[in-house]
Amino acid sequence: MKTAVCPGSFDPVTYGHLDIIRRAAGMFDRVIVAVMTNSSKQPMFTKEERVEFLRRATAGLDNVEIDSFDGLLADYARQKNAAVIVKGLRAMSDFEYEFQMALTNRKLNPETETAFLTTTAEHMYLSSSLVKQVAQLGGDITGFVPDSIIGDIMEKVRCTGKQA
Ligand code: PNS
Repeated sequence: MKTAVCPGSFDPVTYGHLDIIRRAAGMFDRVIVAVMTNSSKQPMFTKEERVEFLRRATAGLDNVEIDSFDGLLADYARQKNAAVIVKGLRAMSDFEYEFQMALTNRKLNPETETAFLTTTAEHMYLSSSLVKQVAQLGGDITGFVPDSIIGDIMEKVRCTGKQA
């Protein structure tokens, strides 16, 4: 049984993330989507909220599980006996940082490979920060994130007025 981990901040999950998760679910027996901390980002949503959004968004995918973890991705992948860490690549600008992380993770945990899936052209421009900016400025985020989480995103924006 091949397990893959799809890690990310998912703040919030977008159709771009879902495209990668769906494709990973078609390639591996078990996919664990792990909400993690990116120390260079200040999240708008709590871990619990991000997990809940992902649960709703992946409800139809039987081999996909949602989890969260506070430590190192390399340790998490080992704990879960994951063969692969799956990351999405949108553009060359993503590559340098992702490559650096992949090499670091391999050093920390040589048993887990990192595999990159290129995003579909349709989702190339999409990012969680863009979604938050659009929402904060009163724009329509339909088509960027699943309908099932739009209400919660707009509510959070209304309540906090927090910056993306
Ligand atoms: O969606 P993001 O913000 O690009 O995801 C980045 C994330 C959360 C996968 C990365 O920051 C991460 O792996 N965090 C866990 C802590 C860790 O292992 N840091 C060292 C990475 S080499």
